[in-house]
Amino acid sequence: MLALRPLSVAVGVRVAARRGAVRALSTSAALRYENNRGNVVKGFCGAVGNTPLLRINSLSDETGCEILGKAEFMEPGGSIKDRAALFVVLDAEKKGLLKPGGTVVEGTAGNTGIGLAHVCRARGYRCVIYMPNTQSQEKIDLLRMLGAEVYPVPAVPFDNPDNYNHQARRHAERLDNAVWTNQFDNVANREAHIQTTGPEIWAQTRGTGLDGFICATGTGGTLAGVTSYLKQVSNGQVQCWLADPPGSVLYSYVTSKGAKMERTGNGSVTEGIGQGRITDNMRDDVHKLDNALHIEDEASIAMIYRLLDEEGLYIGASSALNVVAAYRMAQQLGKGSRVVTVICDGAARYQTRLFSRKWLESKGLYEAVPAHLRKYIVLP
Ligand SMILES: Cc1ncc(COP(=O)(O)O)c(C=O)c1O
Repeated sequence: MLALRPLSVAVGVRVAARRGAVRALSTSAALRYENNRGNVVKGFCGAVGNTPLLRINSLSDETGCEILGKAEFMEPGGSIKDRAALFVVLDAEKKGLLKPGGTVVEGTAGNTGIGLAHVCRARGYRCVIYMPNTQSQEKIDLLRMLGAEVYPVPAVPFDNPDNYNHQARRHAERLDNAVWTNQFDNVANREAHIQTTGPEIWAQTRGTGLDGFICATGTGGTLAGVTSYLKQVSNGQVQCWLADPPGSVLYSYVTSKGAKMERTGNGSVTEGIGQGRITDNMRDDVHKLDNALHIEDEASIAMIYRLLDEEGLYIGASSALNVVAAYRMAQQLGKGSRVVTVICDGAARYQTRLFSRKWLESKGLYEAVPAHLRKYIVLP
C-alpha cells in the first residue's frame, strides 16, 4: 500500500539528492536528468508527478526569456489534478476516514473527478462525482467509462444548497465508509503541490535559475502549494503571480491587496478555473502573491492555436491562459527572465468545443483565431 508519508519523504529525498548533481550539469543535461519518467513506478499512483518541464521554444525565442511549462498533460490520468486526487485519497486513508471498499465522493468540474476515478480503481474504492451540467460531454463520458457514478446537476452558486459541492457532501454523509474529499477546502490538495509540484519545479530549474511562477486557480491548490514552496525555498526571491480568467474575483483581490473582491469581466470559456471566493487552499498563501494578471479569452484561444501550429502542443484553454500569462509575466520581468507555468491538461477533453467553428462563433471567439491558423478549426 502507498501511504502519504513515504510518498512525501521519497519525493523530498529524491529532490534533495538531485540538487547537488544538477549543479554540475549543463542546462539541457539538467533538464533531461530531472525527467525520471524512464524509471519503473508502482502502478497508476506511482506514475503521478515527475512531469517534464518544457521550454516553449517559439515564445522563449521571441521574447528573449525562458518560458517553461510543466507538462501536466503527461500525468497518467491526463491532468494536473491527478496530484490532488492522489493526495486527498491518501490523506483520507491516513486519517482513517476511508477503509477498503469505501466510497469517494467529490464535486468537480471534471479533471479532479477523472484523477479520483483512476485512483479509486487503482486502490479499490467506488467513486461518485457531482459536477455542473455545463461541463463538456467528453469529460462526463470519460468519468463513466472509468467506472464513476456521475451526477451532472444544474450550475448554481456556492451559497445555494444545491451547488454540486454541497450535493456531494450530502451524498457522502448518507453512506457508511464514504468520504467527501472536498477539493476546494481540503488542504491535502495544496499539500500535493508543496510536496511534489513545487520541489519538482525548483529541482528542474536549478541549472538555469527561476524568476517567476504564474498560474490560474480553480481550487487554488496548485498556485498556493507551489507559491508556498517556492517562496520558502528561495527566501522570497521567486515572484509568484496569479493568472485570472474573466468572471473571477481573485484578480481584484490580489491587485487591491485584499481590499476588494469584485468580478473582472463576465465569465470565460476556460474550464476548471476562475473563483468567486478565497478557498481554504488559498487562504494561507494568497497574501504571498506579488501580482496578478487578468487574461482575456481571446488571448487564450489564440494561444491554443499558436502552440498547436508552432510547437505541436495540443492543450486545453486553462493551460493556454497560463502560457499567455507566463509570456506576459516574462516580458514584465524583463529580457533573460525565466518563468514557469503549468500546462494543466490536453485539448482532447474539450476538442468538440475548441475546434468547432459553430462553437467558437457562438462565443464570439472565431475572430480571435488568427486567420492563418483557422485551418485547424476542422469541426463544423
Ligand atoms: C483544466 C484545469 N486547469 C486548472 C485547474 C486549476 O487547478 P487548481 O484546482 O489546483 O487551482 C483545474 C482544476 O480543476 C483544471 O481542471
